[in-house]
Amino acid sequence: MNKVIDFIHVNRDRYVDELKQYLAIPSVSALPGHAADVRRCAEWTRDEMSRIGLQNARLEETPGHPVVYAEWLGAPDAPTILFYGHYDVQPVDPLNLWTSPPFEATVRDGEIYARGAADDKGQVFMHFKAVEAHMKQNGRLPVNMKFLIEGEEEVGSANLDNFIRAHKDLLKADVVVISDSPMFDRGIPSICYGLRGLAYFQIDLRGSKSDLHSGSFGGAVANPAMVLAQILAQAKDKGGRIKIPNFYDDVVELRPEEREEFAKLPFNEKKYRQDLGAPKLFGESGYTTLERVWARPTFEVNGLLSGFTGEGAKTVLPAVAMAKVSMRLVPNQDPQKIGDLFEAWVQKVTPKTVELKITRMHGGKPWMTAFDNPYVQAAGRAIESGFGKRPVFNREGGSIPVVSTFQEELGLPCVLFGVGLPDENAHAPDEKLDLGNFHGGVVSAAFLYDEIGRAAEITRTKRNHEGTKGTKDNTKL
Ligand code: BES
Ligand code: ZN
Repeated sequence: MNKVIDFIHVNRDRYVDELKQYLAIPSVSALPGHAADVRRCAEWTRDEMSRIGLQNARLEETPGHPVVYAEWLGAPDAPTILFYGHYDVQPVDPLNLWTSPPFEATVRDGEIYARGAADDKGQVFMHFKAVEAHMKQNGRLPVNMKFLIEGEEEVGSANLDNFIRAHKDLLKADVVVISDSPMFDRGIPSICYGLRGLAYFQIDLRGSKSDLHSGSFGGAVANPAMVLAQILAQAKDKGGRIKIPNFYDDVVELRPEEREEFAKLPFNEKKYRQDLGAPKLFGESGYTTLERVWARPTFEVNGLLSGFTGEGAKTVLPAVAMAKVSMRLVPNQDPQKIGDLFEAWVQKVTPKTVELKITRMHGGKPWMTAFDNPYVQAAGRAIESGFGKRPVFNREGGSIPVVSTFQEELGLPCVLFGVGLPDENAHAPDEKLDLGNFHGGVVSAAFLYDEIGRAAEITRTKRNHEGTKGTKDNTKL
């Protein structure tokens, strides 16, 4: 391993220059105007995977943006890692709040600023460089690897489940590795063992066929902006509990031991609040902040639009009002079932004075895994080698819809080791990735491939011994 790690140290600056090229491609999956850029980014990903020595690198078409696949299968006796990441990024607006242009990656104070720096191109690139180091120095990898890099994660991975179901053989592996999450805190690397799920909706209300003079008609018809506000205001009680009937039916309650583990983590609530610029924190009563974000569901308004919002005053009754709302879900809530409960509730609380339209947008299942499996343990050792510190185990509030698909469709355990930071500004202006963490991530990834080779030996012996290929690694906590 020494010469692999030396190679990584020596090439540190080159990596940053190359990453800048990757980050320069505006692969915004949500905006149709960027479709050509998204494809160009897929091609760049494919070409890079060929450059570093992976084989059969290619685009796989889907009804949406292409998936990029590549592999190296030269170690018949070793296990196979399926690496998953995404090359698409979130839109950049509001553009005026960026200190430097989002697609001209800029290094300031040891951090690289650009859309996709942390989420997820920077973290995908980290693995490319770890592969490259192994290939350049040894001419081989210590494990077999398959890379599946998608272009629709930020818009809900709508076509990926079908792609996976249709390519089960191609994607056959022993473990999934993903780097698409933040670490617990600066200087505190972590392994993530749980993600929340998501159910996302748009609500449209119409109160009249066009905007009305608020003097001539105010008082005679319902105002859809008011109605929408009233509906949304009923979604949660004062204690932050969601009032949609049966919403909590399937929620797996936190176990006392897990709460104790959360409480032991070095979490500074005051600093957290100050960093967010929030006057006071708010969440479901009876739970700590980490519990609220990692292990409790929530209902949020993501966007609201109605009436006159320009400068000055305009006396008008808006004809329409619109809200984007989403719910983060926890094990064992099902996005489909929650969607049905949500729609029934909105229909019930919406008065007859407005026309209602509900649109289901994307969703994803929550995920949680036991972390005493050999792959997670292997990742722990790799991270310790890369960062000089043992990782803590955490859950996260964000969602990666495909993780539960890997578990359900391919029976694979997932190891989530991310090197972003809570203040990485993902999905926001000035997204950034700490270059020290990026470098530690390349080193950790290089060790991870080596470690997983050995961890899987243990698994295989165990499997042979038990005579079964169980899915023990995936058992929910
Ligand atoms: N990288 C994030 C997922 C993430 C965020 C994991 C924070 C852990 C902590 C991912 O790219 C993302 O943003 N996913 C979306 C999924 C959605 C569009 C279905 C999310 O969580 O909003
Ligand atoms: Zn991401």
